[in-house]
Amino acid sequence: MNIDLRSHWSLGGVDIPGRLVLAPMAGVSVQAFRRQGRRYGAALVCSEMVSVAGIQHRNERTLGYLRVSSDEHPLAIQIFGSDPAAMAEAARMVEAAGADVVDMNFGCPVRKVTKTGAGASLLDDPELACRLVDAVASATALPVSVKMRRGVENGSRTCLAVGPRLVEAGASSLTLHPRSAKQMYTGNADHSLTAELVELVAVPVIASGDIVSRARAQSVLATTGASAVMVGRAAQGNPWVLREIMGDPREPSREEVVAELLLFVRETVRELGEQRASGFLKKFYGWYLGRGRFPRPFKQELVMLRTVPEVEAALLAAAPGARFVLERLLSEQPDPVDEVLLDSLPISLYGGG
Ligand SMILES: Cc1cc2nc3c(=O)[nH]c(=O)nc-3n(C[C@H](O)[C@H](O)[C@H](O)COP(=O)(O)O)c2cc1C
Repeated sequence: MNIDLRSHWSLGGVDIPGRLVLAPMAGVSVQAFRRQGRRYGAALVCSEMVSVAGIQHRNERTLGYLRVSSDEHPLAIQIFGSDPAAMAEAARMVEAAGADVVDMNFGCPVRKVTKTGAGASLLDDPELACRLVDAVASATALPVSVKMRRGVENGSRTCLAVGPRLVEAGASSLTLHPRSAKQMYTGNADHSLTAELVELVAVPVIASGDIVSRARAQSVLATTGASAVMVGRAAQGNPWVLREIMGDPREPSREEVVAELLLFVRETVRELGEQRASGFLKKFYGWYLGRGRFPRPFKQELVMLRTVPEVEAALLAAAPGARFVLERLLSEQPDPVDEVLLDSLPISLYGGG
């Protein structure tokens, strides 16, 4: 039986208008990615993990991750850290920035993060994990969600022991990526654990891992009882997978691919500045132009180009009709001045006082 992917559900009182969620991905989930995800069918989008220490130190780049645009809602901002007071302060900043949900990262397997006691290592320290959730839930009126792995070690079932405790501590939703931290991204996500977790908690569970098609989304929803599925890598340079999951299997034309990439380039330049954006964007060229859409040397050519205008010109030369698709996309974009600007965050939280 097919599940209606457009049916609404509630994440701690926030209405989520569908069952498809765009995954948080460090180095990927910029605003441009999230806005695009919303346009192609994601009902909830999430920022990449934001360092609580960076927020505490008012690191300019970190604060940039708290920028929220009017067409992103509902939006979760994800924070990571291991100090309850700092987490609570970060949660207040997330709320002030205009997010709808505070997400906590208990899944990052990267050593730089786990060695500070944050990310997936919290699954081995449930006392601290619960204190963190309690601190965040007490600090903000927003619902709190937690994203976690199955555990640290291969074969671990820790998520089943820790999950219900996190809910007791104040989590309104859990996202499970059922790989161990040791596995990183190898092997398969074992969604039988997701089904077990759903049975154990009374809050919505989001299933993350290896959702790459409508068929897979439907089968994971049906076999786990999860409230939603989350899509990560499959959507990199490929918003059309979200459209396919939502029931429209059209492959994009070359013009559509180039137009979406051009829009992404422009948005990212606006967001990160040209210098940072040109490095950041390189991996996206392969993601957009791969999948048999353009010959391989074309991607290599783009990566070698030094400036964004050169990239734009090469893309338009490869698919001249993309200009018209881009014009339409631009006319449909909301005005960026709608953004909640960082300057409007309460001064006592943002800096000075
Ligand atoms: C490049 C990359 C960056 C990621 N960054 C984050 C992150 O910041 N926070 C997080 O909770 N998960 C992060 N993840 C994990 C994804 O959210 C997701 O759980 C995982 O990729 C499995 O889903 P997928 O098979 O759909 O990609 C990241 C994954 C990738 C590939």
